[in-house]
Amino acid sequence: MSADDITTDQVLNAQESAVEKSLRPQSLQQYIGQSKIKKELQVYIQAAKSRQEALDHVLLYGPPGLGKTTLALVIANELQVNLRSTTGPSIEKAGDLVAVLSELQAGDVLFIDEIHRLPHNVEEILYSAMEDFYIDIVVGQGSEAHAIHYPLPPFTLIGATTRAGQLSAPLRSRFGIIEHLAYYENSELTQIIQRSAQVLNVQITLEGAHELARRSRGTPRVANRLLKRVRDFAQVAQKEQIDQDLAATSLDQLQVDDAGLDQTDRKLLLMMIELYHGGPLGLKTMAVNVGEEQETIEAVNEPYLLQQGFLKRTPRGRVVTAKAYLHLGVEPID
Ligand SMILES: Nc1ncnc2c1ncn2[C@@H]1O[C@H](COP(=O)(O)OP(=O)(O)OP(=O)(O)O)[C@@H](O)[C@H]1O
Ligand SMILES: [Mg+2]
Repeated sequence: MSADDITTDQVLNAQESAVEKSLRPQSLQQYIGQSKIKKELQVYIQAAKSRQEALDHVLLYGPPGLGKTTLALVIANELQVNLRSTTGPSIEKAGDLVAVLSELQAGDVLFIDEIHRLPHNVEEILYSAMEDFYIDIVVGQGSEAHAIHYPLPPFTLIGATTRAGQLSAPLRSRFGIIEHLAYYENSELTQIIQRSAQVLNVQITLEGAHELARRSRGTPRVANRLLKRVRDFAQVAQKEQIDQDLAATSLDQLQVDDAGLDQTDRKLLLMMIELYHGGPLGLKTMAVNVGEEQETIEAVNEPYLLQQGFLKRTPRGRVVTAKAYLHLGVEPID
């Protein structure tokens, strides 16, 4: 993963800087974009509140940095309940999950990030917890061993994952609300950048914000990161505000191109063109040839390149498109 892929663990721990926290929207109203998801959640949240019930379990999936963790916090805020959070890989034993579950109060939100990485035996405990709000705990050993039926208060599980395909069918089927977070429109990223600039006390022109938005690969986390870097350039150049020119020259220096492709994206496309005449290629070969984890290529690079039309999926693998040749200034060879 690249440096800006902060895990939720890190984000939610005390390590999260005050700045990061202040950049995070707190309510649905502050949460920009994803309008279909927001509209639906508004209804479900209002209905759950008026029935005084826990909200149905929510699964949020999509590429890193699109606001899954943020949305989980927003949902808990809107429900006016406590949020407990943990991650799939940090729950190693059944006992770890039982400890978390037994601390929940009625209506609370339990957020499990990277839920696709829950160990199987832990996942099985979740089934009854999610469906009927109880867990069976085995106590004692050998002939003394027996199960205790342990009731839980009604709660809302919010699971987040960048890899929905890795979730088992029984787990997925227990989520009543399943939402896919899509890449943001440039106009939405522009709004996010303007809001962040206000929080960070940075002056930026509308054109400057547009320029940043265009190069943020549809991702709020990238937009915020680029804004902070360009702010540094502005500071050193003693510019009072970030305009389009400053944004463009700074981002060129950072090697973020005007389609938002980063170095790995470009490396991947060039590798496919130079070594494989543009494909078709499997994910594994792609990953090995650019020295990245297959998981990263699959969750981070591939979805954006597909969405932007630089890559195409075929039954035999991924293929570089004419748009990519044009963008990289490479002549296709037949
Ligand atoms: N809709 C939004 N409006 C404004 N800012 C947003 C929005 N979504 C995300 N952000 C900003 O982007 C940053 C990254 O979002 P977040 O950490 O929620 O992503 P994520 O999907 O959980 O990523 P990961 O898969 O890596 O855990 C947040 O700190 C927040 O400041
Ligand atoms: Mg997250």
